[in-house]
Amino acid sequence: MTQNISTQPYKGTRDFYPEDCRVRTWMFDKLRTTLGRFGYEEYDGPMLEPFELYASKTSEEIVNEQLYWLVDRGDRKLAVRPEMTPTLARMVAARIQELPKPIRWFSIPNLWRYERPQRGRLREHWQLNVDVFGGSRPNEDLEICQLVHAIFDGFGARSGYEVRLNHRGLTNFIFSDLLKLPAEKHASVGRLLDAAPKMGDSKFLAALAEEQVTGKTAQFLVDLLKPDAAKRLEKDLKNCAAWQELTALLQRLEALGLRSHFRFDPSVMRGFMYYTGLVLEAFDLHPDNNRALFGGGRYDNLVGMFGGPALSGMGFGMGDVTLRNFLEVHQLVPNLQAANGVLVAHLSEAQELDALRLADALRSASEQRVLTTLSAEKPKKIFAMAERLRVQYVVFVGDSEVTSQTFAMKNILTGDQTLGTVAELSFKLKTKS
Ligand code: HAM
Repeated sequence: MTQNISTQPYKGTRDFYPEDCRVRTWMFDKLRTTLGRFGYEEYDGPMLEPFELYASKTSEEIVNEQLYWLVDRGDRKLAVRPEMTPTLARMVAARIQELPKPIRWFSIPNLWRYERPQRGRLREHWQLNVDVFGGSRPNEDLEICQLVHAIFDGFGARSGYEVRLNHRGLTNFIFSDLLKLPAEKHASVGRLLDAAPKMGDSKFLAALAEEQVTGKTAQFLVDLLKPDAAKRLEKDLKNCAAWQELTALLQRLEALGLRSHFRFDPSVMRGFMYYTGLVLEAFDLHPDNNRALFGGGRYDNLVGMFGGPALSGMGFGMGDVTLRNFLEVHQLVPNLQAANGVLVAHLSEAQELDALRLADALRSASEQRVLTTLSAEKPKKIFAMAERLRVQYVVFVGDSEVTSQTFAMKNILTGDQTLGTVAELSFKLKTKS
């Protein structure tokens, strides 16, 4: 007995029916427009990479728990890309001498991670990656912040999101110089600090105690997450270069009028091993969307790992799932189904070829979307089809129209009708007169 194969896609992946592709294309077009205005150029890379590319460079969680990998027929161990940054670093390292600096690149790859699917988290997602290399560091950081703001602005989002900034150097300074935490505790305490805002103070303290972090040290970490932390820390951090970098960035954001979207948040850790400087993570302020909208940071050593000179880079990744959730809850997705274009309809089989010929002539002269009915239909059915196909005009092809080469074009939104030759109708369509 044969078993029916399910019509559902693999868990954590999506089918993109035309209505989904429409939204995705709209989102990506908007992103491409904004990035183009900042001079960023699109690149792409392979979906499969050698396993080792991630083994030493990505986060432990991704490598140990989330990587999809396979062995090819030549016994090579390959990974399906879970993120784009290692591929980008490899590509930049391969041409580091000849690439004109600063390098401003972006990509929108699909990425794979074996996650527990939930709102905002899937196994396959598309991720806008934006990165800049080889400029002055503070200016690169500032440009990335400016770009983030422009992306939201491009979608019409003046509010509803927040970008949280931290600095790896600052976290290291706090852990090593201020708290004297042993090096082997840094990773686990960092993870707890990252999770702390969702835990509440008492759970956070209990989790720290399990790591043998107690007393004043534990209290310091709890206080670090309070809104006035920056003010209280000023004195302790006066010799910390990372703190100075971060405060200078916030001041410059203020000067550019962008400060209200950004805030210092010492709990932002970012799980990747490669970040060395500024780290950032953006959140949707709507309670339904509690997953990060994007995350990124500065990495100074990643390109150098391939041999050759080091080149510092800075960038972020923004997922399509959380972006779409954001745009939907804030009602920023416009009507993408507005009627446009023409339906050419013939009334009997005798005009079949005339309809196809007319459709082609209208397409090239008007440069508009022109569809045909594909079969002879009665007027009532033609109008129903026009509505379903979201066209604005219907052009009828009957015997007398073919003879006179003059056609009636009806605007189904207004009911207006125009009589004209192909050239006249095309002019009207093109100029929307
Ligand atoms: P990431 O924080 O792993 O960073 O991912 C960036 C963003 O991609 C997340 O904030 C989220 O919007 C989206 N994302 C990640 N995983 C998933 C998932 N399973 N389902 C849906 N969306 C997801 C990186 O990947 C870094 N490589 C970004 C980067 C670029 N850093 C510098 N340049």
